[in-house]
Amino acid sequence: MSKIVDGIISKQMEIPKLYHFVQKVIAGPLHKKVEEMMVQEMPDITGRKVLDVGCGLGNYSTLFSNAQYTGFDLSPAYIDYANLTFNKSNTSFSIGNAVTPPSFSENFDFIFSVGLYHHISDEETIKSLKALQRMLAEAGSIFIVDAVFPKNFNVPGYVLRKLDRGKHVRSFRAYKELLEDNFVPTAVDYHTAGVLDFIVYKLGV
Ligand SMILES: C[S@@+](CC[C@H](N)C(=O)[O-])C[C@H]1O[C@@H](n2cnc3c(N)ncnc32)[C@H](O)[C@@H]1O
Repeated sequence: MSKIVDGIISKQMEIPKLYHFVQKVIAGPLHKKVEEMMVQEMPDITGRKVLDVGCGLGNYSTLFSNAQYTGFDLSPAYIDYANLTFNKSNTSFSIGNAVTPPSFSENFDFIFSVGLYHHISDEETIKSLKALQRMLAEAGSIFIVDAVFPKNFNVPGYVLRKLDRGKHVRSFRAYKELLEDNFVPTAVDYHTAGVLDFIVYKLGV
């Protein structure tokens, strides 16, 4: 039964406009909070090179109008949508896998990812983050936001995470351990927006 429900959700979410609507309704407060955090994180992005890993429909590209923005995602349908909707002289969208990221001609000052790593196993997450570290420019930084299960009693939050297409949603504690066993993160924090809980972490070169 649960496999059937998972299959239906995955299929429907491949439709960009439907996915966009669901994200807006369920994850609207989370995206708003993440946007604020990102602006704080990179107050002066003029002329900087920014990479959005698992960029989805490309919504976050609008935050980087003064930068050189590159986004990639596994879904060809999402990349088509991003190219149609957010195509500007400073943006570039392509298909790519975060586990074995595409190569780009230059390194990046700011690499970020929102809601990707709960789609990827622990081993692949480490492999991906190590590859991203190698793609950082000097003094560059990585900023990751990802889904976690609620720490406290929160039935809707828990159910939404269980229904997520990503099959590797972790607890905050397991995620933090995974990071600290493999990296020296510059920050690991827990946040809530609406009913959704999420982890935010930062890595340097
Ligand atoms: C929850 S969505 C987040 C999209 C976007 N970052 C946002 O916040 O609007 C997760 C995204 O990760 C992408 N994805 C899943 N596995 C991936 C992989 N191995 N490499 C690149 N993208 C992947 C999906 O196609 C989807 O667009």
